[in-house]
Amino acid sequence: MNAALATDADAESWLELVREVEPLFGLMPGFEEILVRKIGQRAAFCVRSDLIGDSRVLGGILIGGTPMHGWIRSLAVRSSGRGRGVGCCLLAKAIEHFPPPTTVSLDTFREENSEGRPAPATISTNGLPTWPASLGRRSASTAIHIA
Ligand SMILES: CC(C)(COP(=O)(O)OP(=O)(O)OC[C@H]1O[C@@H](n2cnc3c(N)ncnc32)[C@H](O)[C@@H]1OP(=O)(O)O)[C@@H](O)C(=O)NCCC(=O)NCCS
Repeated sequence: MNAALATDADAESWLELVREVEPLFGLMPGFEEILVRKIGQRAAFCVRSDLIGDSRVLGGILIGGTPMHGWIRSLAVRSSGRGRGVGCCLLAKAIEHFPPPTTVSLDTFREENSEGRPAPATISTNGLPTWPASLGRRSASTAIHIA
């Protein structure tokens, strides 16, 4: 499995994925503009379906922040593509992108949000601590320090 730099050709399929996860994250009206900008900045990676003649985006990750403190701005996998390592592959790609020494942070969901539970599993598989205690719909950021 390969997480590749996204291109403009991936945008339509990626937006379809975003519509699928909107109930979890809430409406994301400015997402298309952000996605186009991140693709231009080479800060968007995706895993595409490997079926012949089907190049849908199965999962995507957007990165941002600074070289000293990177941020994962968005991480999502289509429900039909989950549980096959796509999320881990995307996270590994993002972590690889930041030159050490650095800190990479991302927001996860509170433990009581059942639909958000796979996220901490994906993150801990990649070495990030999970479930920081905090208030709010989403938890405080969780961070990994890369030495
Ligand atoms: C979180 C998400 C990206 C994971 O994608 P994925 O492709 O299914 O993840 P992977 O297949 O790489 O699995 C990663 C780990 O999570 C575990 N996992 C996957 N789904 C799970 C579930 N429903 N419950 C518990 N653990 C789960 C896997 O077992 C794996 O851990 P392991 O390697 O120790 O076995 C995906 O569920 C998703 O898009 N969720 C909705 C959006 C979201 O929560 N984004 C993250 C915000 S921080």
